[in-house]
Amino acid sequence: MKNVTCIEDLRQIARRKVPKMFFDYAEAGSYSQETLRANRSDMENIKLRQRVLVNVDKRDISTSILGEPAAAPLALGPIGLGGMMHGDGEILACRAAQAAGIPYTLSTMSVNSIEDVAGAVDKPFWFQLYVMRDRGFVRELVQRAAAAKCSALMLTVDLQVLGQRHVDIRNGLTVPPEIKIKNVIDIATKPAWALSILRGKSKTFGNLSGHVKGMENINSLAQWTASQFDPTLSWKDVEWIKSLWPGKMFLKGILDAEDAKIALKTGASAISVSNHGGRQLDGAPSAISALPKIVDAVGTDIEVMFDGGVRSGQDIMRALALGARSCIVGRSYIYGLGAGGQAGVARVIEILQKELDVTMALCGVKSIKEIDRRVLADYDPRLNSRG
Ligand SMILES: Cc1cc2nc3c(=O)[nH]c(=O)nc-3n(C[C@H](O)[C@H](O)[C@H](O)COP(=O)(O)O)c2cc1C
Repeated sequence: MKNVTCIEDLRQIARRKVPKMFFDYAEAGSYSQETLRANRSDMENIKLRQRVLVNVDKRDISTSILGEPAAAPLALGPIGLGGMMHGDGEILACRAAQAAGIPYTLSTMSVNSIEDVAGAVDKPFWFQLYVMRDRGFVRELVQRAAAAKCSALMLTVDLQVLGQRHVDIRNGLTVPPEIKIKNVIDIATKPAWALSILRGKSKTFGNLSGHVKGMENINSLAQWTASQFDPTLSWKDVEWIKSLWPGKMFLKGILDAEDAKIALKTGASAISVSNHGGRQLDGAPSAISALPKIVDAVGTDIEVMFDGGVRSGQDIMRALALGARSCIVGRSYIYGLGAGGQAGVARVIEILQKELDVTMALCGVKSIKEIDRRVLADYDPRLNSRG
């Protein structure tokens, strides 16, 4: 991983190593991908403020997330089918996060099960919950996460129905991967990937297999999701889920200031401002453009996290400047996973941390708590009441 200098390098390696069907699945946004693109273009349009001749010796990027110490304002987010980027992908990503001292989130739709991951790592991780129609199963999942000593429950609230990703339909994405004529050559040219998947503990949705019917062979993820995920999910259910969970629970997928205010009343420990990486409502605003409005609406009453389009330490700086306390990354780290398993994810974390550290220095700040809107180039004290 020595010649790898940035996240894009890892993306290029992953593209070569992972079969097209799964690489495309990871990259895609929904429909015409407007929101996916906006997540990046709006991010790049935020300019940082260069400051000079400030003593920036002895910088510290450590912080706390959900009240726990973290080596950086960074967490690895939930990725359904993360284990299709590399065999035992969730275990490897979790190990890399824990070695680096940052949180890891296991998706409901992971390949390695909660129990597989818990048995293979030494520290607690977060569990992400999707709410299915079968509430008995939801209760069971939450209990399994509690039994595995997961340290927080992330409830994803922006996927009651699935935004269509054209590419998954065109590629005929199936779980477990089906060896069809059209992908046999592709898989044959990715032997390291195929071997790692063969050796992995699971080849399908590890948390659901054996618990949910119709899991044996999922030919259409969209159809299966439509039949299982609960479109009636409402704020009342948030209370119910909170009552099942003994620890900290937070909501991921808030993009609107009104919703953020309602979230405050649920007693959730945090919210993550997110549009699911541009994979749900196409035409929705970029996550970074929604962030300051939400921060202004909720103030300091709730911890605000951010995800969507973070590809560098500079991006983490931008989100923190606009009021996020930490960033969750998705694609950035699964590129690392596809490129090099645990070492690839470790490299992603290292790159993001180093970039953030240098960016802080060049903006004239030494610690995370000093970062606010004053590090933005367009900062205008007359317009920015929150400093
Ligand atoms: C391939 C893929 C699978 C995802 N699966 C889940 C999931 O199972 N649960 C969830 O809450 N979010 C899921 N997300 C959304 C991410 O957790 C996160 O919100 C998003 O990736 C952030 O945008 P970024 O990829 O630009 O960093 C997924 C994202 C991708 C790219």
